[in-house]
Amino acid sequence: MPDAKATEHARLLELREQLERHNHLYHVLDDPQISDAEYDRLFREAVELEARHPEWVTPDSPTQRVGGAPVAGFRVVEHAVQMLSLDNAMSREELIAFDARVRRYLATAEELAYSAEPKYDGVAVELVYEQGRFALGSTRGDGRTGEDVSHNLRTVRTIPLRLRGAKPPPLLEVRGEVLMPLADFARLNEERAALGLEPFANPRNSTAGTLRQLDPKSAASRPLEFFVYGIGRGEEWLGAKAHSELLARLRELGFRVDTRREECVGIAGALAFHEGLERERDGLPYEVDGTVVKVDDFALQRRLGTLNRSPRWAIAFKFPPRQETTRVIGIEASVGRTGTLTPVAVLEPVRIGGVTVEHATLHNQDEIDRLDVRVGDTVFVERAGDVIPKVVKVVRERRPPDTVPYRLPETCPICGERTVRSEGEVALRCPNPRCPAKLRERLRHFASRNALDIDGLGEKRVDQLVSAERVKRPSDLFGLTAEKLAALEGMGEKSAQNLVEALERAKNTSSARFLYALGIRHVGEHVAAVLARAYPDLSRLLDATSDELEAVDEIGPTIALAIRLWLDEPENRDEFQRLRELLRISSAPVRELAESTTLAGRTCVITGTLEEPRSTWKARLEAAGAKVTDSVSKKTSFLLAGENAGAKLEKARELGVAVIDEREAARLIAEGPGA
Ligand code: IVH
Repeated sequence: MPDAKATEHARLLELREQLERHNHLYHVLDDPQISDAEYDRLFREAVELEARHPEWVTPDSPTQRVGGAPVAGFRVVEHAVQMLSLDNAMSREELIAFDARVRRYLATAEELAYSAEPKYDGVAVELVYEQGRFALGSTRGDGRTGEDVSHNLRTVRTIPLRLRGAKPPPLLEVRGEVLMPLADFARLNEERAALGLEPFANPRNSTAGTLRQLDPKSAASRPLEFFVYGIGRGEEWLGAKAHSELLARLRELGFRVDTRREECVGIAGALAFHEGLERERDGLPYEVDGTVVKVDDFALQRRLGTLNRSPRWAIAFKFPPRQETTRVIGIEASVGRTGTLTPVAVLEPVRIGGVTVEHATLHNQDEIDRLDVRVGDTVFVERAGDVIPKVVKVVRERRPPDTVPYRLPETCPICGERTVRSEGEVALRCPNPRCPAKLRERLRHFASRNALDIDGLGEKRVDQLVSAERVKRPSDLFGLTAEKLAALEGMGEKSAQNLVEALERAKNTSSARFLYALGIRHVGEHVAAVLARAYPDLSRLLDATSDELEAVDEIGPTIALAIRLWLDEPENRDEFQRLRELLRISSAPVRELAESTTLAGRTCVITGTLEEPRSTWKARLEAAGAKVTDSVSKKTSFLLAGENAGAKLEKARELGVAVIDEREAARLIAEGPGA
């Protein structure tokens, strides 16, 4: 063999070995070591090499099989009709090429009717019904044989144990996906952590793990769901002429069919569906990794047939992957406004869903311990929508020798003060009120859009002022003169003058904004507005006891205590008074939203991590008459923001769009239409 060819052949053999290994890790051990995206790349490379050299294709090549091998311990089940796999399209072009291919094959110039549906990221199963009774349920396995997991599937409530209707077909084999909702997945991982078990990398792995449990009690305690999307034997009893009709029949028989699917005319319709689904992706209660587009008409499906174990009549149009593997090159502790130390993983840069990710949050020491993440580790990083990227799993097998567990520093990385852990809290904090990092965050918060809204005082300016020791507390800002400011690097006379004027303007504010700007723990915008209403005379607030504070509607013990602790610091009291003298505080609420009476016709956007799933909020808001959209614009009435809200929150602040939290959203909904 000539050199180049020999190199290619060697590469193919190497790829096969890797693919086999990762197949085993993923399907048999439920313990993937590379991301799906990485696996796809290796797979595609092998497919391409084999396409160039068809003589190298062997029946045992990983490209020739559809899924994982069944594990020992479960009865092997043969699928009477092979469970096929799907070809992937990674771009619009590839989807359009699919449509062109199909139409060429059918020799038609007409637009085809397609069924577009979510591609669930779960575990494919086949359910066999005999005389209308659930008789057997198995995993797809390698497409020909899977494992009998009937005992666990019986616990899934969306799987009917008896078909509905007077005359069920004598034999029916339905196919679909078993999924674990994201909220349950998160809870399960917490439970595992408490037991000292390794977390599952994603809901699909936890679904596979659950289906493989020997004791069905544990499956029953983990709420799995089932969506039907196809059929094996028994189609002739249903009399459907198209996929969408089939699904309608299956629904009548008692199966759950996703309402999030559409019949489209032409590929443009399928593309529009895909784009809509992608916008919804972050709010869905379960993981979806793309759209499956199927030729709807069964007669056409039969004409198209199957090639290489994938039907020619269907394709999976994948979303950009959200998870990637990369290496942790450092762990840093960043200090927030209230002094909380947040560990951040510094990563070898990696592209996830079109964005380069270099940092991922590790939340706190408990999370670090749970993951046992160390510098040098290879990790799974996930980035979902505008949420801050996070490390979800460590690949232990790829850990280099000589790593050490990470502990957050005992002293503040910025000011050197000993860190403390308050009772009952996970977070370590720097208690030094003069810590420059805290000061910087405090000032940023103070100047932010929904606080005092100081134009021209961005993050960079704040950093400069803090480093130059020009400002030691927020009230010092108002002592800055144009001359002093002009001495800062990159600050012209004009911008110095502008900033002084902006500071002057910012002095006109409301008590709600003022209280929010102070940056007291747990006092977000909503609580600040509540306090402002309860204490029209701010000097009374200074001496309010925790009990008095708690008596205010919506203020609980945690908030009351946080406020009291803050006000008890002599420096804070001084600052409070100083600011009250400097500012012109009106007690009129400026946040017009608080006065709103109805949600009808309002446009809102949801972002960040919320206590309840976004889909729940979306449904509630919509039920109250609001319209939920995906992006923040001037037309947005408000943004419902949870933790770790990112770009959308920025944007809302930029545009002056009201930002509310879950409590406030609940309140608005409770007020009801026209209240
Ligand atoms: S149809 C012949 N529809 O994708 C068509 N599959 O790569 C094969 N999947 O094993 C199945 N959502 O696990 C179909 N709406 C959907 C699907 C779907 C997810 C999975 C299924 C299958 C894999 C094929």
